[in-house]
Amino acid sequence: LNIKQFVKNIPKVELHLHIEGSLEPELMFSLAERNAISLPYSSVEQLKQAYQFNNLQEFLDLYYQGAEVLQTEQDFFDLAWAYYQTCQRDNVLHTEIFFDPQTHTERGIDIGTVIKGLMRAKQQAYQQLGVSSEYILCFLRHLSEESAIQTLKAAKPYLSDIVGVGLDSSEQGHPPEKFQRVFAMAKQLGLERVAHAGEEGPAANVKNAWQLLDVSRIDHGVRCLEDEELVAQLAEAQIPLTVCPFSNVKLKVVSNLSEHPLPDMLSKGLAVTINSDDPAYFGGYLLANLEACAETFAWTAQQIADLCLTAVQASYASETRKRELS
Ligand code: ADE
Ligand code: ZN
Repeated sequence: LNIKQFVKNIPKVELHLHIEGSLEPELMFSLAERNAISLPYSSVEQLKQAYQFNNLQEFLDLYYQGAEVLQTEQDFFDLAWAYYQTCQRDNVLHTEIFFDPQTHTERGIDIGTVIKGLMRAKQQAYQQLGVSSEYILCFLRHLSEESAIQTLKAAKPYLSDIVGVGLDSSEQGHPPEKFQRVFAMAKQLGLERVAHAGEEGPAANVKNAWQLLDVSRIDHGVRCLEDEELVAQLAEAQIPLTVCPFSNVKLKVVSNLSEHPLPDMLSKGLAVTINSDDPAYFGGYLLANLEACAETFAWTAQQIADLCLTAVQASYASETRKRELS
């Protein structure tokens, strides 16, 4: 059995994908032109050369700059539609997509413009491509608690369009505790909760996201390994961790893929899933991440199938859809 073919063909689920991080350089240039915005790069090639990061913040600076080309409902549709087409190509049949409203509302764009464009793509993807999806509204943790609360309020007319809330952006200096109240409000509204934790920040952020924000998944979470007791608790509770291998390499969370703690995490019984994070910036989509891991860690077809099943079970898809995906 050819493992590459197996990885390609198996139905896949993505649980950690920032839609703004799927903005390919070519689309960034064409949206810039359409919206008469000048980019500080003279070509797609020059832009791609800038995609070298020493840490999360260096990436975020470029990611927020790139997102400025997104202005109209059609832009958000085009962004998401391009991503859904890669899902179909790679046999990713269900995806749970993060979006960062504050990146856009801070520039004067209405949250409705963002959500309506994404929802039109979502409907079309399900109807035309058979790709189902859910949306998770992320609060930017480098902004204030008040701004997060205002964002949740602004999203109230669109609550049926989102499955949950998340927490992303600069982890250092912005611990989960800062967002306890807005996460409690989200829970009251019946929303699921996830948070980036233990990517660049310490294991304590994983513990606090879990206990204080009451999340049902941890995004990244790799640094939980620094707290043995926490690892045992996460494994016991089978809290899913949405690990992003290419991202961790590109942002220097690990020095290279063969040094990634994935095998260690799996051997400790953690509910690990494989994801792409910001594929346009980090060198590949979910399929490419899975292929590289399968090769680097010599995973068997059974191990890959188990990882894919963990992602199905950790998803917020309906029970009916989960059965279809299993
Ligand atoms: N926003 C987009 N990608 C991110 C990541 N890997 N960590 C935190 N915030 C993000
Ligand atoms: Zn992320």
